[in-house]
Amino acid sequence: MPCSERTQVAIIGAGPAGLLLGHLLHRQGIDTVIVEARSREYVEARIRAGILEQGTREVLAEAGLGDRMEREGLLHGGIHLRFDGRNHHIPMSELTGGRQVTVYGQTEVVKDLVLARIESGAPLRFECADVRVHGLDADEPVVRYVLDGEERELRCELVAGCDGFHGVCRPSIPAGVLSIFERVYPYAWLGILADVAPSTDELIYARHERGFALHSMRSPSISRLYVQVDPGDDVGHWPDERVWEELHLRLACEGFALEEGPVLEKSITPMRSFVASPMRYRSLLLAGDAAHIVPPTGAKGLNLAVADVTVLALALASYFADGSATGLDEYSDRCLARVWRAQHFSWWMTTMLHPDPSDDAYGGELARAQLEYVCRSEAAATSLAENYVGLALEWSPQPAAPLTRSARG
Ligand code: APR
Ligand code: PHB
Repeated sequence: MPCSERTQVAIIGAGPAGLLLGHLLHRQGIDTVIVEARSREYVEARIRAGILEQGTREVLAEAGLGDRMEREGLLHGGIHLRFDGRNHHIPMSELTGGRQVTVYGQTEVVKDLVLARIESGAPLRFECADVRVHGLDADEPVVRYVLDGEERELRCELVAGCDGFHGVCRPSIPAGVLSIFERVYPYAWLGILADVAPSTDELIYARHERGFALHSMRSPSISRLYVQVDPGDDVGHWPDERVWEELHLRLACEGFALEEGPVLEKSITPMRSFVASPMRYRSLLLAGDAAHIVPPTGAKGLNLAVADVTVLALALASYFADGSATGLDEYSDRCLARVWRAQHFSWWMTTMLHPDPSDDAYGGELARAQLEYVCRSEAAATSLAENYVGLALEWSPQPAAPLTRSARG
């Protein structure tokens, strides 16, 4: 007989989505068990992006998770766009009434969340094998898994599918229920983590005929840099010298000098846009990468996951408080409105900044015209800025107020 236990919400996956949801529900006195396939070391070592929207920073701070972020995170009020050897600063804070982004690695966010979970004493099960979700149509869904060689059974009221793109939750939804929207880009990112102080005050996004490049950072002493490569390429073809050579060429600009340093990590990330809709099937609610993927150019992946679970935690809190299902019924539509806004912004940034080997010369000139416009038009730069720093968490397509300039005063 499997060892059986009961909880209110079974959370599958201990990435930012699952861990933050567990934290927010714990603060509401709602029982959860987090079931994670990998080890704690693996989860805390995974290198991902590191730009937090203003809203994400506020959610983490409000949830009592902001101490280290506020101490070690870098506040940025703008970005640099670079092409044709010229640099253009986009003063995002000025254009958005003072909103900023925080440079703080997703790896650090996950470490803070794991620590908070362990300190809370609420269950967090690492190295769970063969995780299966059953009975989504029944009153009481069941999550089964194997831990330390023992079959386990977790009975619950609801299941939160926070197990990422390659998880088991989305595929456990019967065929025909989900609509899938996808775009795969004909390029990828080779990223390096380098033990050298950043050569820039704020992020540099560069479009160059040799390909895209990004100069980001993790701290005043650690840089994070990316170059566009072929999707089928292999890190073995990219010795450190070649990576630095490409970065020098693509980031070249008068008065700019790129400092090199020891490469600590190197990996290639495919570029894809993906949305599964709806984000709920009966007692299963998908959040984060389990439901949607964006290319990293707009730095939206982590922020979308945080937005999803913030909406989900509110919906679950009212459901467990007074049985109201309104929040749960509206969950998918509320999140998808924001997801599609971020999908468009990420696609727009990606196609504007990456020379597309499959595109014709006309397409290349269109992207350049877009880049020129963003760097010259306050209206276009403001649009980039408000999407980049993050729209208000309760953003929805319905305009909050008339859009006329006079109405805006
Ligand atoms: N059973 C249990 N856990 C699983 C399973 C499974 N079958 N499959 C995957 N997982 C775990 C993964 O090991 C991972 O820890 O689910 C977690 C999913 O975490 P993420 O992939 O980080 O997804 P999410 O929490 O939605 O965060 C989205 O991560 O990939 C970045 O760019 C993305 O920044 C975004 C963020
Ligand atoms: C990162 O720091 O890893 C990073 C920053 C901005 C992006 C993507 C990745 O758009």
